[in-house]
Amino acid sequence: MRWPKGLDGLCYGGDHNPEQWPPEVWTEDVALMRRARVNLVTVGVFAWSRLEPQPGRYDFDWLDRVLDLLHTGGIRVALATPTASPPPWFSLRHPDALPVTADGVRLQHGSRDTYCVSAPAYRRAAGEITAALAARYADHPALALWHVHNEYGTTCHCDHATEAFRRWLRTRYGGLDALNDAWTTSFWSQHYSDWAQIRTPVATRYLGNPAQLLDFRRFGSDELLGAYLAQRDLLRAATPDVPVTTNFVLGGWVPVDHARWSTELDLVAIDHYPTEAGPGAEEQTAFAADLARGWARHSPGGPGWLLMETAPNLILTPGRMHGKEPGRLLRHSLSYVARGSRGAMFFQWRASRGGAELFHSALLPHAGPRSRGFRETVELGETLDRLAEVDVGTVSTSVAVVRDAGSWWALQASVLPSAEVDHADEVAAVYRALWRAGLGCDVVEPGDDLSGYALVVLPMLYLVDDGYAARLRDYLASGGHLLVSYLSGVADEYGRIRLGGHPGALRDLLGIRVDEFQPLDPATRLSLSDGGTGRLWSEPVELAGATAVTTYTDGRLAGGPAVTRHAYGAGVAWYVSTRLDDDTYRRLAADVARAAGVTPTCPVAPDGVEAVRRRSADGRSWLFLLNHTDTAQTLPVAGLDLLTGGYVDPVTLPAGGCAVLRQS
Ligand code: GAL
Repeated sequence: MRWPKGLDGLCYGGDHNPEQWPPEVWTEDVALMRRARVNLVTVGVFAWSRLEPQPGRYDFDWLDRVLDLLHTGGIRVALATPTASPPPWFSLRHPDALPVTADGVRLQHGSRDTYCVSAPAYRRAAGEITAALAARYADHPALALWHVHNEYGTTCHCDHATEAFRRWLRTRYGGLDALNDAWTTSFWSQHYSDWAQIRTPVATRYLGNPAQLLDFRRFGSDELLGAYLAQRDLLRAATPDVPVTTNFVLGGWVPVDHARWSTELDLVAIDHYPTEAGPGAEEQTAFAADLARGWARHSPGGPGWLLMETAPNLILTPGRMHGKEPGRLLRHSLSYVARGSRGAMFFQWRASRGGAELFHSALLPHAGPRSRGFRETVELGETLDRLAEVDVGTVSTSVAVVRDAGSWWALQASVLPSAEVDHADEVAAVYRALWRAGLGCDVVEPGDDLSGYALVVLPMLYLVDDGYAARLRDYLASGGHLLVSYLSGVADEYGRIRLGGHPGALRDLLGIRVDEFQPLDPATRLSLSDGGTGRLWSEPVELAGATAVTTYTDGRLAGGPAVTRHAYGAGVAWYVSTRLDDDTYRRLAADVARAAGVTPTCPVAPDGVEAVRRRSADGRSWLFLLNHTDTAQTLPVAGLDLLTGGYVDPVTLPAGGCAVLRQS
């Protein structure tokens, strides 16, 4: 495993932006970092214009001083390449490297991420600054980790991007016949007779081609990965022993297949910013951490991974910043660590005085060290120190939720029967159901091995190729349990509808057939025979071997199956034809898990108390208990609480409090 040099235990720190401050602040920073037990900081992410103030003229003196100061203070550095924000001189010199939107508008500098990764001038300049940094700091003793770029996720429609897209398509399809077939270009006279006719999916008069959009996302992922690899290889050549990573951003607009990228990362690192201020933030945190844990299994640096950024004291919802209540910072941090994060890192160390993110929270707030925020920063550092031993533990579960970048992208096309349904949203709904039922799960990709799982969930897995359908049949035949939700198996890998009735690839194993979809308007609720409700989607499900578990009791489908169960081989396959309300989904998840022989992580944990277990190969285990309720909770479990250092039996968690019990 490649792990940052010189770092033991858990990482703690965040983005450090000394370029925004005069040198006297740098000294104070190091002193305060030491007080908070910060041991790793990311430096230089957006410092390109300070590092290369003029083309080819570098100024490293200030960075030398910063790294020396940090080293003297015993703080390790994740040194970033600054390529997510080219300096103004670059954009003015190379207007062809500025990105073009789907509407044909060329964006100008003045923010960040304003470049096209396919533009030769950008790639050249990014390579040069990367090589210069590598040469300068290869032997610096503070260097622990390379942090390439920041949150790869841009798209572009300029001529360079268009050329790159055509090259990618040639490799994928070999010839135009295959492309025309896969894209169904016979529709609306789109047949291509020359590669030069193909464009990125730019603005069109009316609906675009969904297969083209899907391939553009796949291309985007590979193209950005190429940009990452170019930098990674330069850094590796200079410092073969220093691991290289980049911070993943999670968002619907991001054309990155993170599972595929993870095979190329020495350490999977994610940035995570919950978007709900209420209890949803806890579920989102757990989900993001389990996602990263799944990706890390693809990485040579796994199974551990790193939370590279989150906000210390802030949840951003559209139009509003919510401060985190006291204790929430710790609970969220422990939720990531419980699920395998090798520490907790934040954006950012010191709050900025100006610039676009001047009101973003920080480990050191504007108010300075005499603040509630900084007190919690220090407490968190002390806590992570006490938890160092858990770093050897891994999480294992017997439930897998399959998430698929391709299905997500395919369902983003604007031509589907309902704009209200979304793969990521359905994955989140089923994850929430499992989380609320106290059931730990892995989030996996269609390529992952399913044999170790008692239960596999396919939430809206829209694209299913023949090979995957065959693997699912084998899984069921050998005794697996499968829970499938609507709009799964409907299309092939190119997004073409499978004929003969839905859910195409999965009809036989589910023992059902659906001959039409009946999406619902967002306000409609359909009652179900078990007292639950369905929304957003419904289907007339014909039984073809399956039995009805619940039925619709009103609307056009009254009396018809809503949830079905089908014995297949030695296994069982369940189907859900509507979006269940949260309580009903939770009950169903618990029932299906019970039938599959899966029990909750901590069966005595009451509602609102989250439990996650990490185990080490030498037989130790750590039970993380996070009380998200506003009352104290007592649970009949025993162990040494690493947070207090005392043995407990039973354990009492204060309102909003946590325990980490070492149990042998
Ligand atoms: C991240 C980004 C940081 C900062 C942060 C604010 O996505 O990497 O640079 O912008 O968001 O929440």
